[in-house]
Amino acid sequence: MSKKYITTPIYYVNGEAHIGHAYTTFIADSLARYARLKGEKTFFLTGTDEHGQKIEESAKKNNKPTQEFADEISASFKNLWDAFEISYDKFIRTTDAEHKKGVQHAFIKMYEKGDIYKGEYEGHYCVSCEAFFPETQLIDGEFCPDCGRSTNIVKEESYFFKLSKYENALLKHYEQNPDFLMPKSRANEVINFVKGGLKDLSITRTSFTWGVPMPSELNDDKHVMYVWLDALLNYVTALGYGNDDAKMQDFWPADYHLVGKDILRFHAIYWPAFLMSLDLPLPKHIAAHGWWTRDGEKMSKSKGNVVLPKEVADAYGAENLRYFMLREVPFGQDGDFSQRAFIDRINSELSNDLGNLLNRIIGMSGKYSDFVIDSKDVAKYHQKELSAMNKVLDSLDIFMQNVQPHRYLEELWKLFAIGNGAIAEHEPWVKMKNNQKDEALATVALVANILAKAAVMLHAIMPKTTNTIANALDFTIDTASYNDLIVEKNILKVFNIKKVPPLFPRIEEPLMPEAPKAEPNPPKEEQKLQNSEDNLIEIGQFFETQLKVGTVVDAQEVPKSKKLLKLQVDLGEEQPRQIVAGIKEFYTPDDLLNTQVCVVANLKPAKLMGLMSAGMLLAAKDEDGLCLIRPEKPKKAGTPIG
Ligand code: MSP
Repeated sequence: MSKKYITTPIYYVNGEAHIGHAYTTFIADSLARYARLKGEKTFFLTGTDEHGQKIEESAKKNNKPTQEFADEISASFKNLWDAFEISYDKFIRTTDAEHKKGVQHAFIKMYEKGDIYKGEYEGHYCVSCEAFFPETQLIDGEFCPDCGRSTNIVKEESYFFKLSKYENALLKHYEQNPDFLMPKSRANEVINFVKGGLKDLSITRTSFTWGVPMPSELNDDKHVMYVWLDALLNYVTALGYGNDDAKMQDFWPADYHLVGKDILRFHAIYWPAFLMSLDLPLPKHIAAHGWWTRDGEKMSKSKGNVVLPKEVADAYGAENLRYFMLREVPFGQDGDFSQRAFIDRINSELSNDLGNLLNRIIGMSGKYSDFVIDSKDVAKYHQKELSAMNKVLDSLDIFMQNVQPHRYLEELWKLFAIGNGAIAEHEPWVKMKNNQKDEALATVALVANILAKAAVMLHAIMPKTTNTIANALDFTIDTASYNDLIVEKNILKVFNIKKVPPLFPRIEEPLMPEAPKAEPNPPKEEQKLQNSEDNLIEIGQFFETQLKVGTVVDAQEVPKSKKLLKLQVDLGEEQPRQIVAGIKEFYTPDDLLNTQVCVVANLKPAKLMGLMSAGMLLAAKDEDGLCLIRPEKPKKAGTPIG
């Protein structure tokens, strides 16, 4: 029997789940339900990622003992998924004793293999991303290239994993397994990163304690494990790795690790390298989705525009949300949640295409044949529609295998067009009047069968709704009916129709309060910096950035800072602006005094080393160093650039 092992990322317990988290979970749940429907042996894992500096700091901010804080938020994730009837087989917590034991076991294995050595880490750490960055990758020598937040300098003893050793093996694996990374468009990003050279990875920390302790064999208890080593291993410890390996035999390697694009690197590079070191097979697919925004804006607590899954579900229905999210966005691309788009899909696709078709069948069967539909004449009158229907049904599976739920649903919806088209063409009500009852009833039976098969194929995405449809049509959705109706292509012989209330009442007005109005310019540290092709901007977006020529009227060193200079820059305003710039390694104050620079003038002011900075200088940096971008000829202070 074939099997499927499907995972979501484990979610950090530093805040509430939002629709971004729900999206991954909905897709994973749909894949798992689909696999079960097909009769595959399935294991679906989700859970929470509870260690690391970020969680320790969040707990402190909330004045709670870390474990208590983690317990509460982990429970809130679990409760949310339970409310959505997410069909996970296991909810893992990285604070579980078996998980910690499994991680220690893996550490020892890698150590014994000669892949771990002790050294000293010196560099920058972003607590929000829980990631190390070499200085060359930082923005302005300080900010995280992934999330834009300020990084900390870390200098501490550390154990390292020999990531560099696996560079070639990784490249070979990507080449030989073109479906390893999904969608394929994301593969280049990963391959280029690896080709750029992998540095050994620091995998322990000594500056805090909230992590999996070192294995006692190493006798070095001032270290705790790096949270990503701990977290990634959840995918095997959940199957008993390091404790009782029976489930490992059944389910490893994973079939689908679902992740967001921001954590692809950890899954596509670190994780396979760890597995190679442990002599374990690699997962079959890592599928990375894009990010959700709300009404075109990045969601953030500070803006108060975070969409909470429970709120949406209460207003619009949990399964409508699942449908909308999976249908709206081509997997891999960024998506936008807007109530307008959501309402449009509910009204046109769920209510019109699907809901009305069911209502018409219930109505016609009641009127023409006392709610009993016999399929005996379907083949006689509807060969064309039956073959179109089978063609659609045959096309669907590959979209699920390739994690393209949007394509899957798009194709599936063609069934309703076939059903609605058959009614429009054959006008059963006319046939009933003209004494052609067999023909009229054949059309009703055709559409009932289309609805039944569509319900089977939609079941993984809308389990309850499709059970209601199946109940109205008097059959059950399970592996047996999947085999009968989809694999064997049989039709249901008789339907005893039951009336059900309309499944998708039309929605006229938004049912939730609108998001607070966005600030015109989100602060830099909140902008996710991505280098992918889906990041092209409109010209209008470019002009949201106000660039101006400025004249440096004063320049000072910032005491104790290796990198910062404090400048007063005349931008033609009442007073010069103070700008703190990370350029001290390349310019002295004298180099700058009375020279002109190009300034981003509408950046939200930020504090750097306690000094307010109201703007940013344009500069270019490569391996030879940094140079400022300046006007070719002197220009009046404040002249706009663009
Ligand atoms: N704990 C790590 C994952 C470890 S997996 C071994 C983590 N946790 S997270 O809670 O920060 O993020 C979990 C998932 O949510 C990631 O896949 C991330 O991409 C996703 N999302 C967070 N915000 C999102 C959106 N706005 N939109 C879509 N998904 C987003 O990373």
